[in-house]
Amino acid sequence: MKKFFVIVVITLSVITFRASADEGMWIPLLIEKYNIDDMQAKGFKLTAEDIYSINNACLIDAVVLFGRGCTGELISDQGLLLTNHHCGYGAIQKHSSVELDYLTDGFWAMNNEQELPNPDLTVKFLKRIADVTDIVLADIGENLLENERAYSIEENIKKIENNISGGEYINSIESFFYGNQYYLFVYEEFKDVRLVGAPPSAIGKFGGDTDNWMWPRHTGDFSVFRIYADKDNSPAEYAIDNVPYKPKKYLSVSLKGINEGDFTLVLGYPGSTKEYIISDAIKQIKEIRNPKCIELRNKRLEIMNKYMDTNDTIRIKYAGKNARVSNSWKRWKGEIVGLERLNAIETKSKLEKKFNKWATGNEYANVIPELESIYERMEKYTIAYDYYKESIMAIEIIRFAEKFKELIEIASFSEIDSLTLEIKIQELEKQSEAFYKDYVEFIDKEIFYELLPMYFNNVAPEFHPEIIDVGFEGDYMKFIESLFINSIFTQEDEIDKILISGSAESIQQLVNDPVYKFLDRFGKVYSEKILPYYDSLNAQTNILYRKYIKGLSKMQNDNILYPDANLTMRVSYGEIKGSQPKDGVKYVYYTTLDGVMEKDNPDIYDYDVPDKLKELFESKDYGIYEVNGTVPVCFIATNHTTGGNSGSPVLDAEGNLIGINFDRVWEGIMSDMVFDPEQSRNISLDIRYILFIIDKYAGAKYLIDEMNIIK
Ligand code: ARG
Ligand code: GLU
Repeated sequence: MKKFFVIVVITLSVITFRASADEGMWIPLLIEKYNIDDMQAKGFKLTAEDIYSINNACLIDAVVLFGRGCTGELISDQGLLLTNHHCGYGAIQKHSSVELDYLTDGFWAMNNEQELPNPDLTVKFLKRIADVTDIVLADIGENLLENERAYSIEENIKKIENNISGGEYINSIESFFYGNQYYLFVYEEFKDVRLVGAPPSAIGKFGGDTDNWMWPRHTGDFSVFRIYADKDNSPAEYAIDNVPYKPKKYLSVSLKGINEGDFTLVLGYPGSTKEYIISDAIKQIKEIRNPKCIELRNKRLEIMNKYMDTNDTIRIKYAGKNARVSNSWKRWKGEIVGLERLNAIETKSKLEKKFNKWATGNEYANVIPELESIYERMEKYTIAYDYYKESIMAIEIIRFAEKFKELIEIASFSEIDSLTLEIKIQELEKQSEAFYKDYVEFIDKEIFYELLPMYFNNVAPEFHPEIIDVGFEGDYMKFIESLFINSIFTQEDEIDKILISGSAESIQQLVNDPVYKFLDRFGKVYSEKILPYYDSLNAQTNILYRKYIKGLSKMQNDNILYPDANLTMRVSYGEIKGSQPKDGVKYVYYTTLDGVMEKDNPDIYDYDVPDKLKELFESKDYGIYEVNGTVPVCFIATNHTTGGNSGSPVLDAEGNLIGINFDRVWEGIMSDMVFDPEQSRNISLDIRYILFIIDKYAGAKYLIDEMNIIK
């Protein structure tokens, strides 16, 4: 009888895990082994080989890492690529000025010649994944000291990388589960990526930061690019005679529509999650890190917004900066609320108690207590670290001066290598042009006034550099005023002069610049008293988490763990599904153009619907994108996603494109730490809204004709 009982319990727990939720960001290589049965049971019609295959064209061949942290997908045999508006934002902004304001007006190339090149933008295709754990961890005994272990791992990685003749390919070996496993990723990188089209911000960023991270949502968050290759279809630097890239695979676009309960698949590049951290770490984030960082960003945003609201030049200059600052700021707030509602600290600490009980007397017994003690020791360094990043390094002029550090070093060697110097100067010329293009001194100064005292009031005195020179008597205002008056970093022509002259002597003189001196003194405290401790304590937690994860999977036996996101390609699957965020409130799984019009308000910047869209709405000119008298705009599903998944293709059970991922729902936003099946939802833009805007709004039907549309 007893035996029977045990068996039942185990089976149940396996089933529970299987049926529960769509949590997890899975490795494409392991879909066959771990997920495909579950996926097919949930409605997926294809095979694991259709998702990832080395031999045949597969879905993953149509997905790229876009820029440094977004995802994109190929949607035609002419290298046409779809991603989010906020992922193309940098490119769109760079081509914009007050006269040619593509942010406000949108941009549409009506033929290939009109497309705009983007020198700094690249995309990467994943060619192959291999499990190299055994080779990376070969000869690495359990008892090696951590630095010896790290050294041997690095040597092994080098050996592997030298052994694969990648040719033009980029090889990268990444650690999973805190170093329990290693995988090799082989990429092909393309460097000629041109902007094809972007809707106006009033569509692409509709709802702005007011609606960001929230449902119901009506943001047309997409932009269109095209990849170019040389005549042999290989990657090449930008050149006029490059030709549209012919991809191995591109996605078909489905107009068949979606329903609640439909299977959904997301392929993309989630950046980073912390699903296995212990309750003390969550507590630190929820009670210290997030609140303090939010407070610092409140100030920055307040000041930026004040000027952006009333001045168009400033609005354009600060558009990208503002969006970046506000995005995490709002997510941090949502995380606090979600962690609180889920009672995450308590839930995690229950798991830790269970673990401790299981670990009594075995090799895992010390893991949790040691982690706890490290988090306690880490607190003051963490605070100092966050304040350095979010106050001192939030000052634009300080960050700009930091870029000169290397140049000054190069110029101060007794024997100067003129080629190195020249390369560095060229790099800085570009960076400083970009910096001054979008810099407004008085805004930076005002932010500085607010943030500097916050550092001193919150960070332990041992991390206070002496920066206020004699004569200012702790008067921050006077001090900052004199920094800005006496620094040449605020003077574009002076900086230009130095760079153009290339004179080592004048470059060396920069060390006496007051802004540089300020940076230097703070930098010393940071690099000597904060960072080494912060890093080393974090490294110690890594070792323990490596053990913890190993222990967890032993303890939980059949439970298959998924690795934290690390900007490698992952597969998330789930279903289209609404949610119930609170008592009496239900989230429907989709939104429509009618909702865009409901939000319309010419007096509120975020909700000012463009006239042309209003006309289309009035005349109901929806073409083949019409559903029940309107056009679908966004939908939510249960796919587990995070930052980096922006632009990811959302596919149906047959592998056809039904939308692109761009956000998550506020109530479930803590899913980077704790996924909540009830509340965690990813937000996608319905492909039909994208096509409607391209076709009817932009009049760029030729792009639709390139696609393979399934009706
Ligand atoms: N929240 C989404 C993401 O994390 C969209 C961000 C777009 N930026 C914005 N400030 N609205 O990237
Ligand atoms: N907007 C995010 C991105 O840029 C995706 C939303 C999320 O964090 O899930 O990747």
